[in-house]
Amino acid sequence: MKSKKNQNYPVITIDGASGTGKGVVTHRIAKELNWNLLDSGALYRVLALAAEKYHISLDNAPALTKAADQLDVQFITNELGIPPRIILEREDVTDIIRSEQIGNAASKVGALPAVREALLDRQRAFLQYPGLVTDGRDMGTVIFPEANLKVFLIASPNIRAERRYNQLKAIGIHVNLDALVSELSERDKRDSERLHAPLKPAANALCIDTDFLTIQEVVNQIMTEAKKFL
Ligand code: DC
Repeated sequence: MKSKKNQNYPVITIDGASGTGKGVVTHRIAKELNWNLLDSGALYRVLALAAEKYHISLDNAPALTKAADQLDVQFITNELGIPPRIILEREDVTDIIRSEQIGNAASKVGALPAVREALLDRQRAFLQYPGLVTDGRDMGTVIFPEANLKVFLIASPNIRAERRYNQLKAIGIHVNLDALVSELSERDKRDSERLHAPLKPAANALCIDTDFLTIQEVVNQIMTEAKKFL
């Protein structure tokens, strides 16, 4: 690994598959603590979008790694604590990167070890004063193994697909629910079975089954644990 870990500030990692609620939970925790936020999936999604823009094939590891190294992406946060706007080369791509097509492409580029390595320092650079909450697949296992609190969110496939369906609908993306169930399961399989940094809970992670919990209940459980070291 080429980068050094910055251990000066506290970190909470929130990992899990798509539709487990990790995005919204991560935002709420970041807002409550007034900490920085890293949506690592957005980086993979933006890279997938850049690949599409520059006609880079999703199995061209050298070209994708170069694109990851040079990725001109910015996360613009505002003081209201609303999720950041995501800018690729001066274009606001916040909503278009949320499509399932880009999610699938992100999962494919994320399966390439050299791409993951290229995005490592960029992710660790988010660790700044006063602390960081991160959302992803390998936040607790690979990117921030020294995190103060590691959370792994779980939900059953149908509930996840339904949540995802509603999230997409809310931003004007209409999909077929059955197609979504199979796309998500294909994406999970790829994310969980890849050799490098697969989706899995860290050994000491707090695993929360979110099927029958509200977002606020999940947030409360995490905050209760966080208060033990804050
Ligand atoms: O969390 P998300 O749905 O935005 O992530 C999209 C894809 O990006 C996910 O299917 C796999 C990849 N990803 C990854 O490989 N590692 C991460 N830490 C985050 C996302």
